[in-house]
Amino acid sequence: PRSYRITLLPGDGIGREVVSVAKDVLSLAGSFEGVKSNEKIHSFSLASMISSNKCISFVLLSYAGIEFRFREVPIGGSALDSVGVPLPEETLTAAKESDAVLLGAIGGYKWDANEKHLKPETGLLQLRAGLGVFANLRPATVLSQLVDSSTLKKEVAEGVDIMVVRELTGGIYFGNPRGFGYNERGEDIGFNTEIYSVPEIDRIARVAFEVARKRRGKLCSVDKANVLEASMLWRKRVTALASEFPDIEIFHMYVDNAAMQLIRNPKQFDTIVTNNIFGDILSDEASMLTGSIGMLPSASISESGPGLFEPIHGSAPDIAGQDKANPLATVLSAAMLLRYGLGEEQAAKRIEAAVASTLNKGFRTGDIFSDGTTLVGCKRMGEEVLNSVDSHATAM
Ligand code: NAD
Ligand code: IPM
Ligand code: MN
Repeated sequence: PRSYRITLLPGDGIGREVVSVAKDVLSLAGSFEGVKSNEKIHSFSLASMISSNKCISFVLLSYAGIEFRFREVPIGGSALDSVGVPLPEETLTAAKESDAVLLGAIGGYKWDANEKHLKPETGLLQLRAGLGVFANLRPATVLSQLVDSSTLKKEVAEGVDIMVVRELTGGIYFGNPRGFGYNERGEDIGFNTEIYSVPEIDRIARVAFEVARKRRGKLCSVDKANVLEASMLWRKRVTALASEFPDIEIFHMYVDNAAMQLIRNPKQFDTIVTNNIFGDILSDEASMLTGSIGMLPSASISESGPGLFEPIHGSAPDIAGQDKANPLATVLSAAMLLRYGLGEEQAAKRIEAAVASTLNKGFRTGDIFSDGTTLVGCKRMGEEVLNSVDSHATAM
């Protein structure tokens, strides 16, 4: 059988609950795979990752299924408690040596007051930087089954299908100088730097143009070029690169307007490309079009090496340990892991079909519950997805 090494990073809070579900779904979906790829999958180029099913030829060689070798290592608060740092060396090494990484979420009240270098969030940022996963794909797709879960009117939400391409290893999250200090009046200050280089802008823009090409050919670049120099350079480079992609319709929008337009008329968007912090905020906003942040998966990819797959939500300390979390964002992240990380398109579709079928049967966690559906917890939702994993894959 084909065999992959998967690093599991459950992390904190509901991260542990949702990764446990996604791991079981991944294993079962893989076991149904009967087709073996004749290519080494985890080392192909970014462009082919994005168009994986086009670039990989399949030959029928075995019926033994995909085998996953899971290795679970600590990150975030749980790593702070057990090892004393938010990203132990062993964790980064395990992640780098694997074929793909599946993460739950990190963070929690217990560590909120920690110094910067001892925050769970710092561990996650170090992991993203360490893996070089600069391109974060966050799809916001309104499933027909969940139109009623959106807080927006049906006619606004119905049919929305947006891909947010978020730059993930640069910008204000990583820019220097940063820190605490004093101003000329002796007052305490905290400061950060929004900074982008031309190579950083170019590589994320190219990914976004390629992603748009596989979708509906429309790319919106979101910035704050009316105020910020880093955004002025961003807009200049995206505009320059557009000539390499004459088939893509490109337009630019200021982030404040984009935040408004996402709620006013989300169907005007196909692919959105933006910097690290705007992408963080806009993807949480876009999640509410789909019904819940508990539905949104993501894939983070690098130039070479393993990808990182995680739901866009956090550790949800308000519901952690109560079996209330929606595991579907993480289950769908496992599907993205198969698609973008391993080139296993069939198994990815099998998982997405199982999610659709579970929703068709009416099962809902609290965050997506509506009249006439069946309220279930995280574990039960996982069992229902497992029951719905079928040996044949159909579209969502
Ligand atoms: P959050 O995403 O954890 O939660 C926001 C709200 O959404 C909460 O009410 C929560 O209950 C709900 N929610 C989130 N995921 C859900 C799910 N799967 N099912 C049902 N409801 C869900 O954001 P927050 O409260 O701002 O942050 C909590 C902690 O998580 C903080 O420590 C933060 O730094 C961290 N965080 C981590 C990540 C990550 O690991 N990638 C992402 C965001 C926040
Ligand atoms: C996310 C989170 C992280 C981010 C935090 C926890 C560092 O909000 O994954 O969206 O801001 O990127
Ligand atoms: Mn976020």
